[in-house]
Amino acid sequence: MRDSYKENLEQYLQGLVPERPSELQKMEAYADKYHFPIIGPACGQACYLMARLTQARTVFELGSGYGYSTAWFARAVRENGGGKVHHVVWDEELSQMAREHLQVLGYQDLVHFHLGEAVEALRQADGPFDLIFNDIEKTAYPDSLAVIEEKLRPGGVLILDNMLYGGYVWVPTEQGEATEAVRRTTEMLTTSPNWVTSLLPIRDGLLVAYKTG
Ligand SMILES: C[S@@+](CC[C@H](N)C(=O)[O-])C[C@H]1O[C@@H](n2cnc3c(N)ncnc32)[C@H](O)[C@@H]1O
Repeated sequence: MRDSYKENLEQYLQGLVPERPSELQKMEAYADKYHFPIIGPACGQACYLMARLTQARTVFELGSGYGYSTAWFARAVRENGGGKVHHVVWDEELSQMAREHLQVLGYQDLVHFHLGEAVEALRQADGPFDLIFNDIEKTAYPDSLAVIEEKLRPGGVLILDNMLYGGYVWVPTEQGEATEAVRRTTEMLTTSPNWVTSLLPIRDGLLVAYKTG
């Protein structure tokens, strides 16, 4: 019952997302075929919406894969009047794939590519940023927060993916390193006076946090 509810919900939410350009659909098909963990259309649409709502012109992504989530932010930044989306991944092949996809989509002028460790790239980048999106390995989430908080502008928005972590977060006996890291990150953000947060249960959970000061 629960599984079919979840599957139906995902399909329903995905069905509400307007048709995407064929290159984006190709990226979705590649993720399906090779089980690559992209955020998918429903989270992509939510990220696009956040970036439009906040009129973000400078976006920094940590853990960008082959550029699927980047494409959603790039579209928003273009419609907001132009700016930069920072794409960071440590896999050379994925970085190259991202360059090709984003070129076909016509976003190459909006994207700055970094090859390397994402938190370090953010530390080295000139901020502040309007929006930061975090999708790196989950065990690195808690330590990434200090750098993110430093580089996000007051009133900026942080989005983190996989914050439901497949539902393990609410299973007390599940104490894997990644699950614990997701729980700790959630606690740090939801109990800090510096953030206003909401966990959106789309796909694997998007935590959206507004930096208050
Ligand atoms: C979940 S995938 C990204 C999917 C992408 N956000 C999307 O939706 O299209 C995470 C990617 O970031 C890479 N990665 C994970 N931790 C990283 C880190 N600390 N620095 C750089 N890349 C990282 C992984 O190897 C993987 O390619």
